[in-house]
This record gives sequence, structure tokens and C-alpha cells, in this order.
Amino acid sequence: MTHTIVMTGATRGFGRVAVERIREGDPEAHLVLLARGAAGTELAAHLSQSGRPVTSIPTDLLSLGSVRAAADELIQRLDTGDLPPLRGFVGNAGLLYTNNVTESPDGFEATFAVNVLANHVLIRLLQDRFKAPSRIVLTVSDAHFGDFRHNAGMMPAPSWQDPASLARIRAFPKPNTVTAGGTAYSTSKLAAIYLIHEYARRLPQGVDIVAYNPGFVPGTGLSREAGAAVRFVGRRIMPLMTLTPMASSQKNAGQHLADVALGRIPAPSGSYIDRTREVSSSKESYDLDRERQLWETVEDLCLPIAS
Ligand SMILES: NC(=O)c1ccc[n+]([C@@H]2O[C@H](COP(=O)([O-])OP(=O)(O)OC[C@H]3O[C@@H](n4cnc5c(N)ncnc54)[C@H](OP(=O)(O)O)[C@@H]3O)[C@@H](O)[C@H]2O)c1
Repeated sequence: MTHTIVMTGATRGFGRVAVERIREGDPEAHLVLLARGAAGTELAAHLSQSGRPVTSIPTDLLSLGSVRAAADELIQRLDTGDLPPLRGFVGNAGLLYTNNVTESPDGFEATFAVNVLANHVLIRLLQDRFKAPSRIVLTVSDAHFGDFRHNAGMMPAPSWQDPASLARIRAFPKPNTVTAGGTAYSTSKLAAIYLIHEYARRLPQGVDIVAYNPGFVPGTGLSREAGAAVRFVGRRIMPLMTLTPMASSQKNAGQHLADVALGRIPAPSGSYIDRTREVSSSKESYDLDRERQLWETVEDLCLPIAS
């Protein structure tokens, strides 16, 4: 039976590999790409050459209005039968800034807007349209552990605080620094895991949600906001890191994401999948009070703006 799989973050990095693998691995899937600018439309046209339908809905995940419009279009097309039943969502898009002072058009801190709020609005608005069995995957990061074993000191540890503050700029000390930007990133991925735990309790039976950690993937566009020196290290030196167990090539990270999205790696709802196997996320990431508080805050922040 044909079905719809919606994906963000397919236009570059390992998401670009994953979208090809999903298309090849699931011939019944009608892929819908949510991407900004012309990149999504061009990619959809390219992928459609296989003869399988791929649709693009231009979406800027920084803007909750744009995210809402994309969700509304998806709902309308699902409800009229223009798209087959919804069985998958791959929230792979993510951003890393070199500061904690970049604001989204709605006045939210940009990392939090894309890595947390956009995913929440999409899943929340689409939650009644998923048909069991469905799998929702959000790409998170080992950065949420905040320890040397998982990050080799490359990323600052998360620094949790009231989610209403995390959603705004200047939540962390010295907000104009790379360290503050990295802290915002690792904290946003911890927040995404909290959301996954809360959704796992709220979604209907058979509609599963899991976290996917690709490992460290050098050479993607994630550090494109960084200065020239950092980008040089990222492009030329970091690829050597793929030789260490902490790192994944873009090819492997994309294949693993596709495998998770297609349900080839079994794991219960709410799980954390590290590349190809289910493991525990950080001890800090299991916290019912924070999960509830984050849920209430993102509901208050997003849905009025997105509506
Ligand atoms: N690279 C790593 O080491 C690593 C490690 C752990 C987790 N991750 C996570 O893996 C995911 C993919 O990252 P990547 O490394 O492949 O980075 P990437 O090459 O920068 O890809 C990021 C993707 O997100 C999309 N995106 C970003 N902001 C957007 C917006 N406002 N609207 C629409 N789309 C937007 C990008 O689209 P555009 O082409 O329009 O920019 C791109 O397709 C992210 O969630 C990242 O946090 C990466």
C-alpha cells in the first residue's frame, strides 16, 4: 500500500544520502520534502526521475508561520486523498550557530526554533493524521551527553534551564561566543530527546517516535556558519575522524537514518538509536518533570504563533 513519508533536512549532508536510501528501500513511499528555497523543489524533481512520486513543500523551519503553512498543506492533501496515508516523519533538519544571539523571525533563538520548535509544531499538527504502523524519527546528537567519551571535547555540555529562557537568545553566558552557540546546540538536542519521551507517552498505539544519533559526521554543512578556520578544519582535517569509532561517514550516517526511518532497526517508542542499535541516552535525558515542563512551554510558545 502506498503511503506518505515526510522529511526535513534532505537537501544536504547525510540527509541527502538518507532520502535516496529511503526512496530505494521503500518503493511504496510517496516522499514529501520540506525544505527552504529552491533546493527542495530541485531535489524532488531529481528524485522523481525514478518514476516514484516525490513532492516538495517549500518550508523555512525557522519560521513557525512557514512550518504551520506546510503542515496545513500536508493535512489538506492527506485529507483529500491527494497524498496516501501518512506513515512516517523524518525530522533530520538541524542547525548549529556560532553564537546564542541569532533570532528567528518569531523572536526565538534560532537553534531552538529549528531543532525543537519546528519539529514540535509539525508532529503536533500532524499527530492525528499518522496511520499505524508509523514511525517518527528525530535526528539528535551525542552532544546531549556532554561528556568527553561521546564528544571528545568538541561540543560544550548541555546546560538545562527554564525552557522559556532556552527558547530566547542570550540564555547562556557570553552569548556572542562559539561556546554559547555550542551549548545552545547540545541543549536543543537534549530538549528534542525530552520531547520524544513526552510524545512516546502521548501518541496513539502503533505511532512510534524514536531518536536517531548519527555519531560525529564530518564534512556536512552543519558548521557552515563557523569561521573560515573552523570550516577548513571541518572540511580537510575532520574527515580523518571517520577512522575513529566516534565518527560516521555521510554515507553510513545516511544509510543508518534510512534504516531507522524504514523500521529496519527495531526499537520501542521513545528509544534512542545510536547509529544501528538501541542504547540509553544520557542519565540527564530521563527526567519526567523537565519533559512535562518543556511540553507545556512549547505548547504555549508555538501553537498560538503557528496558528
Ligand atoms: N554532522 C554531525 O556531526 C552531526 C552529529 C550529530 C547530529 N547531527 C544532526 O544531523 C542533522 C543533519 O545535519 P548535517 O550534519 O547533515 O548538517 P547539514 O549538512 O547542515 O544539513 C542540515 C539540513 O537541515 C536543513 N535545514 C537547516 N535549517 C533549515 C531551515 N531553516 N529550513 C529548512 N531546512 C533547514 C538544511 O537545509 P539547507 O540546505 O536549506 O540548509 C539541510 O538539509 C542535524 O539535525 C544535525 O544537528 C549532525
